Amino acid sequence: MMNKKSLFGAVVAVGMVFGAGSAMADGAQLYQSKTCMSCHGANGDAPITPMYPKIGGQNAAYLIQQMKDIKSGARNNGQTAAMKGIMAAVSDEEIEAIANWLATL
Ligand code: HEC
Repeated sequence: MMNKKSLFGAVVAVGMVFGAGSAMADGAQLYQSKTCMSCHGANGDAPITPMYPKIGGQNAAYLIQQMKDIKSGARNNGQTAAMKGIMAAVSDEEIEAIANWLATL
């Protein structure tokens, strides 16, 4: 007989087996810890101003390229500066993990 507590434990254990090191779990966590949601919304679909892009559900390869271009300065328009500072603290591996997660939304 499983009580609520052991069920929770089982769910966490399964989550760790399937989630640990997976790009999807890491991407979701990174999106939070790097404060991406503060501008793009919790699931990348509710930007704080209409001028900021919706990124949830976008193609991963496209997202990776845009983030790398913003980080490197190759993409630079009137809005880019708002995000560029954040990207200095996001590695290429982290960019890929976040993009792979966003593409699943
Ligand atoms: C301070 C606000 C802000 C934060 C924080 C921020 N962004 Fe952005 N982001 C923007 C703005 C503004 C743009 C549009 C830049 C431009 O027009 O070049 C953008 C563009 C993007 C794009 C390109 C979208 C497209 O359609 O081309 C992606 C992908 C993206 N952000 C992901 C992220 C991720 C991932 C994080 C967290 C690591 C993040 N952003 C943090 C404001 C922000």
